[in-house]
Amino acid sequence: MTGLASKLTGRNAFLSDIGSLAIHLASNHVSFCDIDDLMNESKRIMSNLDENSPYYVFHNGQECEVSYVIYANSYKCPKCRKHISSWDLAKQTKSFSVPSKICCTSCSNVFGKKDLNCIGKKAVSASLSVGKGRNVNVEISREPIRTRVEDYRVSRRIDLLGMTKFDENREMHIRSALHLQNVYKLRDFYSDVNWFALGSLFNEINAVKNLRTKAALLLAFTNTAWHGSKMRRFNLKGGHRPLTGTLYFPQLYSEGNVFKIFENKIETLVKYFAELKRYGTSSHIQINRTSAVELSLDDNSIDYIYTDPPFGSNIFYADCNFIAEAWLGSPTSIVKEAVVNRSLKTNAGGKTLTTYADLMRSSFLEMNRVLKKGSKLSLVFNSSTGDVWQALMDSLNDAGFEVEDADLLDKVQLSFKGYKAKTSSENVATTDLVIDLKKKPNVQMRAKIKRF
Ligand SMILES: C[S@@+](CC[C@H](N)C(=O)[O-])C[C@H]1O[C@@H](n2cnc3c(N)ncnc32)[C@H](O)[C@@H]1O
Repeated sequence: MTGLASKLTGRNAFLSDIGSLAIHLASNHVSFCDIDDLMNESKRIMSNLDENSPYYVFHNGQECEVSYVIYANSYKCPKCRKHISSWDLAKQTKSFSVPSKICCTSCSNVFGKKDLNCIGKKAVSASLSVGKGRNVNVEISREPIRTRVEDYRVSRRIDLLGMTKFDENREMHIRSALHLQNVYKLRDFYSDVNWFALGSLFNEINAVKNLRTKAALLLAFTNTAWHGSKMRRFNLKGGHRPLTGTLYFPQLYSEGNVFKIFENKIETLVKYFAELKRYGTSSHIQINRTSAVELSLDDNSIDYIYTDPPFGSNIFYADCNFIAEAWLGSPTSIVKEAVVNRSLKTNAGGKTLTTYADLMRSSFLEMNRVLKKGSKLSLVFNSSTGDVWQALMDSLNDAGFEVEDADLLDKVQLSFKGYKAKTSSENVATTDLVIDLKKKPNVQMRAKIKRF
């Protein structure tokens, strides 16, 4: 977003982030892509893939394309040993969501979610496209549909990519209890059907010759790969999607048709690039994958800095971006990430509030070094934790900055964290602050930049 803002206002900019997804998003959004080439390549790819699509099934003797399949958690009742399906439970509620108190559909005994062990996920319903833009929903328990995935294999290369490890010591592995979902590597985020489909799509994209078009197709792909995971939540009102800022595996998961998701994303990108062309400016945007403690810029060379760092232990970007970054072949190392990460021991990459404050101080010292005299730094921040605020303000002060002004920034769309705060299950601030700071004049810096 920072790059786009610079582009639209005609400024030259230098962007830096340690995450490969951040670089992938920024570079794709600031440079124009030939729309005709993008549409032609995606059409060609889709027609190659259609021949072998795993999303066709027979229904009423007719071949139909699957839009999505809903999978529901199954439990065994601790009292009567009969199966309980979260789909049957959801159907009893107005909002179609699984209640926190679960009443066995056979013996009527009531249990908390924690008292029940999930014994697997079962396909319960499918939405089939039956032509002329019409979809029908089929209850799978009554009318089995057949997917043809058993016939498919992915290439050796995709198999290897699937082995990209998501370490069980990582903060979000622990917080999201991913061991209960058997998630230890990229492959584990996907059903067989979607893994095959994504693998085939990825191979097709990688064979595209024009590098700019290929990068834009990969942008559509990384978004599709996220939507195609088992984290995509079924939503009665439509708009099934995974939650942002977390790694959450819902009880009712919607296995989307990744080819359709990809096509929709391409349509959005085509509109985006058409708009970007209209606003086209000659500004030069340089994008570097570097830590904020080591900006490769000259002293006193920058007019203005806008920075939006992680807020303590609010969101673990490297963990939450794992899916896209693994497909891009470059997951972010957590070593340099500016977060407070309590689940890990410090010798295994864990960071205390002191380590976080050190990283922030070193980053602000580096920003002070490259910023011209009398220039401004705008910082987006929020935390509902006093000690995180204190760590931030101390590190800014140590790095030679003083507060000039502050204002509210309403990001409009809430993240998972913001949503939890609104529904009062977690103490998280929902509106961010933009703090304007200026370099203190003639300060002899005592703090030193630490390289991490
Ligand atoms: C709130 S997000 C910023 C989003 C971005 N400004 C935008 O407009 O979309 C915080 C970012 O800080 C990055 N980050 C974390 N530690 C960092 C470090 N030491 N140096 C540079 N970037 C870091 C994360 O990878 C993440 O992308």
